[in-house]
Order: sequence, then C-alpha cells, then structure tokens
Amino acid sequence: MELKMTKYFSIFLLLFSSCYYDNQEELYQYLVDNCDTTSITFSNSIMPIIIDECSSCHLSGNTLGEVSLNSYSEVMIYVDNGELESDINGTANIMPKAGMMNNCNIMIIEKWINDGAKNN
Ligand code: HEC
Repeated sequence: MELKMTKYFSIFLLLFSSCYYDNQEELYQYLVDNCDTTSITFSNSIMPIIIDECSSCHLSGNTLGEVSLNSYSEVMIYVDNGELESDINGTANIMPKAGMMNNCNIMIIEKWINDGAKNN
C-alpha cells in the first residue's frame, strides 16, 4: 500500500514538474529581442498584426463574439472601451484566444494606443 502511494506521488510530481517546465518554455518563446517600436502606424504596424493574429475570428466575415476588426473605425470601438488593451495584455479576456502574442506585438499595439491611436 505504501509503495503504491509513493508511486502515485512520484507520478504526480513528474506531471507537475513537466507542466511547470512547459510553461517556462512557452514564456520564453513569446519574448522577442530588439522589438522595434519606432514609427508605428495603423496601416503598417497594427493592421498586419491583426491580420496575422486575429483574422481567423475577427476579419472579413469572421465575427466571433460579434467582433469584427476590419477597419480603423471598428478597431477604435475596442480601443475606446479599453477592451483591446486589456485583452491583448491578458488582464481581461485573453486575445488571441489561444494565448498571448509575443511581447513585441503587444508593445507595438500599446505604444500605438498611448500615442493617441492615430489613423495613419
Ligand atoms: C480563435 C478565435 C479568436 C481569435 C484568434 C481572436 N479572438 Fe477575439 N474574440 C473571440 C471570441 C469568441 C470573442 C467573444 C468573447 C469570448 O468568447 O471570449 C472575442 C472577443 C474579442 C473582443 C471583445 C471584447 C471581449 O473580450 O469580449 C476583442 C476586443 C477581441 N476579441 C480582440 C481580439 C484581437 C485583437 C485578436 C488578435 C490579437 C483576437 N481577438 C483574436 C475569438 C477570437
């Protein structure tokens, strides 16, 4: 009996530590060195990120959660209500749904918002 318990306990430990290790790896995977946050524009910086990361659910006919991000004015709805920023930095409903983007994409969108979310 005692042996069985020890066995289960080691399996538990093994599972737990491997999960922990995976999470660490994932965290590092999302870090981009030398993120360029100079000369950010809506059309050259923000739209390409939305196309890469959000299009399967929120672009050209995809309106999951009744959210579409096809244009500046549609994106601005979620800038103005604060949801874009809180979703991409994971403090609310994490977007993209599968997990946070790399730090560079997040920094670029946050800088664009902090600089007044211009339509440029
Ligand atoms: C796999 C599908 C999927 C992807 C990819 C995705 N979203 Fe969403 N999004 C949803 C769904 C579904 C909702 C509706 C709320 C919910 O169910 O969480 C939503 C809701 C939202 C909302 C409304 C506020 C809220 O949290 O309900 C915003 C803003 C948003 N998404 C932004 C984004 C952005 C920006 C990206 C890309 C960086 C993105 N989403 C990628 C599925 C997705």
